[in-house]
Amino acid sequence: MSSVVSRRLSVAPMLDWTDRHYRFFARQITHHALLYSEMVTTGALLFGQADRFLSFDEAEHPVALQLGGSDPKDLAKCAILAQTYGYDEVNLNCGCPSPRVQKGAFGACLMNEVSLVADCLKAMQDVTDIDVTVKHRIGVDREDSYDIVRDFVGALAHQTSCSTFIVHARNAWLEGLSPKENREVPPLKYEYVYKLKQDFPDLEIIINGGVKTNEDITKHLDFVDGVMVGREAYHNPYFMAQWDQLFYDDSHAVLTQVQIVDLLRIYCQKQLDRNQGTNMRHMVRHYLGLMQGKKGAKAWRRMLSDAKLLNGADTTLLVEAVGCIEN
Ligand SMILES: Cc1cc2nc3c(=O)[nH]c(=O)nc-3n(C[C@H](O)[C@H](O)[C@H](O)COP(=O)(O)O)c2cc1C
Repeated sequence: MSSVVSRRLSVAPMLDWTDRHYRFFARQITHHALLYSEMVTTGALLFGQADRFLSFDEAEHPVALQLGGSDPKDLAKCAILAQTYGYDEVNLNCGCPSPRVQKGAFGACLMNEVSLVADCLKAMQDVTDIDVTVKHRIGVDREDSYDIVRDFVGALAHQTSCSTFIVHARNAWLEGLSPKENREVPPLKYEYVYKLKQDFPDLEIIINGGVKTNEDITKHLDFVDGVMVGREAYHNPYFMAQWDQLFYDDSHAVLTQVQIVDLLRIYCQKQLDRNQGTNMRHMVRHYLGLMQGKKGAKAWRRMLSDAKLLNGADTTLLVEAVGCIEN
């Protein structure tokens, strides 16, 4: 079982959401949870601007890069890039159902191509020392037998040295549903993921899908090694504030939302000073949910998403927006 990176809790890869600015923000709330990048395709890295997709702030560690692709050679090249940039893990996406991804023959449709997935993982493992992991569903389309995911995981564990499997506990329906619906409509079957852990006790099994509270997390941890949280960690990020204490036995002082904004202001200023095209909108769009439950949250959200205020804004926008929050 992998031991260097703790995956007890992690924040899911989410396209357009878990970019470096979100990850820096999340890291101010939890010191320990593993943070995943958005999915980056091998094409974007090998034929685009690798540095734009890969660079990140040291403070984000532990951080994992998720790759989308199905060509073992390309994935190997990208795994080397991941290691060179200092990522703690590289993850292969076998769960994304979007039609664009299916056209590129990667994502969830790879669950039907287990030998190819094994080749991809081996190619990455051969060239890197960092952990190579997989994120996948429990099946594709309407095939709803447990055997599908058991055989997928079993074959990969047998044919490669991959020992960490992150399982979104629902099927991906490759036709007829949008990616959004594919995160909501196919039913969650947590029992399949628990059973994987029973059948493969030596593997690290991480459960994902529909987790919204610390009580949910506690319950899952009775059955699996770790819990990955996606949407709730984005829409209600301060829910992560208790994680270090509850799940990592680390009782450092928990920052208040207002203290977090102070740190974010310094971060935003640093990014603006670098003059590399980052503007306030790129960063503050991730902060909208921070004040959930506090008086003034609505005004906070309104200010941080007001096109007029954002146009040419500097960090005083954050100072003014936080002024709307009542303690
Ligand atoms: C906006 C958005 C983008 C996503 N992008 C990715 C992605 O790039 N790679 C991936 O493996 N999953 C992606 N997902 C799926 C999440 O990683 C996660 O599996 C899913 O949201 C279920 O977890 P949750 O119920 O905790 O949100 C995305 C989800 C959302 C909401």
